[in-house]
Amino acid sequence: MTTTLLTNIGELTTNVEQDGDPCGTLHDAAVLIEGDRIAWVGAGADAAAANASHDRESASGGRGLGNRPTSRPPGALSREMEVVDAGGRAVIPGFVDSHTHLVFGGDRADEFEARMTGTPYAAGGIRRTVAATRAATDDELRARLGGFVAELHRQGTTTFEIKTGYGLTVADEERLARLAAEVTREVTFLGAHVVPAEYAERRHVYIDLVCDEMLRACAPHSRWIDVFCERGAFTAEEARRILAAGVAHGLEPRVHGNQLGPGEGVRLAVAMGAASVDHCTYLDDEDVTALAGSNTVATLLPGVEFSTRQPYPDARHLIDAGVTVALASDCNPGSSFTSSMPLMIALAVREMGMTPSEAVWAATAGGARALRRDDVGALAPGMRADLVLLDAPTRVHLAYRPGVPLVHSAWIGGAPS
Ligand code: NIG
Ligand code: FE
Repeated sequence: MTTTLLTNIGELTTNVEQDGDPCGTLHDAAVLIEGDRIAWVGAGADAAAANASHDRESASGGRGLGNRPTSRPPGALSREMEVVDAGGRAVIPGFVDSHTHLVFGGDRADEFEARMTGTPYAAGGIRRTVAATRAATDDELRARLGGFVAELHRQGTTTFEIKTGYGLTVADEERLARLAAEVTREVTFLGAHVVPAEYAERRHVYIDLVCDEMLRACAPHSRWIDVFCERGAFTAEEARRILAAGVAHGLEPRVHGNQLGPGEGVRLAVAMGAASVDHCTYLDDEDVTALAGSNTVATLLPGVEFSTRQPYPDARHLIDAGVTVALASDCNPGSSFTSSMPLMIALAVREMGMTPSEAVWAATAGGARALRRDDVGALAPGMRADLVLLDAPTRVHLAYRPGVPLVHSAWIGGAPS
């Protein structure tokens, strides 16, 4: 097992709440990584002392293990402790992007261009991506997906969810779920994205298909079931039936709700015990009260408002009301074709009233809550060693320097990427 001591961390965001600080911030810190897990987190001075005694204990064991900085990859010295100098950089948990739609064909740059001259966003464009996705081969989709995964890693995202929803036939939804499962365990079956054109006059037949054959084909590859509960997509009543069918097949519910206007999505998500309701752009007081009294996370997707020129959700109001807020990219070719979690943080701070620390928490620990994961989103003993070194002295720089690629490197499951 590889053991690595990451030292000289200028500011460490642990997300283990301490003295009223939800980010559990440490200065001049160190992290010990054993295999794919965090073994220890603490003050750099304590690490140096422990390392020195480790040196003494192992002095007869051959190679020295002093705390010298090294650029050698940790894997090079198996069973020995490698010491890596973070150079005073800020270190944060890897981003947890709990909402993406990354398996698709084609793009819709023409729609984006039209929106920027005043054409409103219409979710009907989803059907164009469905056509392009159905026309793509498995290998084409797989290659595209591999490119997106590399893009996520380069930007510090170490855990990500992927939804189906651009196939909308049994065979196409099954292959999207299967391809997504090749790169993440957080796969969401979204057969209820929109009613495909060929069922426009027979929506109840399509919903029956989603709840039965399509669900049976996709459930083995999936953890979650999602529904786009919105005017023009699925009603609350339809969504409830679809989510219940998913739950009966062992999937856990999450909901797209209140994106394009007020509606019942949020209240449905809370009533169904969903892990998360995503978008939350148009909320009333009843929605906020329901969320505040629930275990359902409000996942905000500011890339959508940025790319569709919609009003941003009021994150400040949600947080002040006691709602748990996550940030995610919603990366998809229609409403938000960006996979950048640093951009979500910058938008959340500059447009949605979040503090930089709240936004970083929401993009890490918040995403983990939205995926009901207790092994990612924080840096503490026993958790996955997923962490990001920033080319910056503090996490605030993620919002302070929008558009600047501040991710120096990411460690994923204890391995530098
Ligand atoms: O989350 N809202 C529904 N689905 C996506 C948009 C998909 C698309 O436009 O292709 C979303 O915004
Ligand atoms: Fe989405």
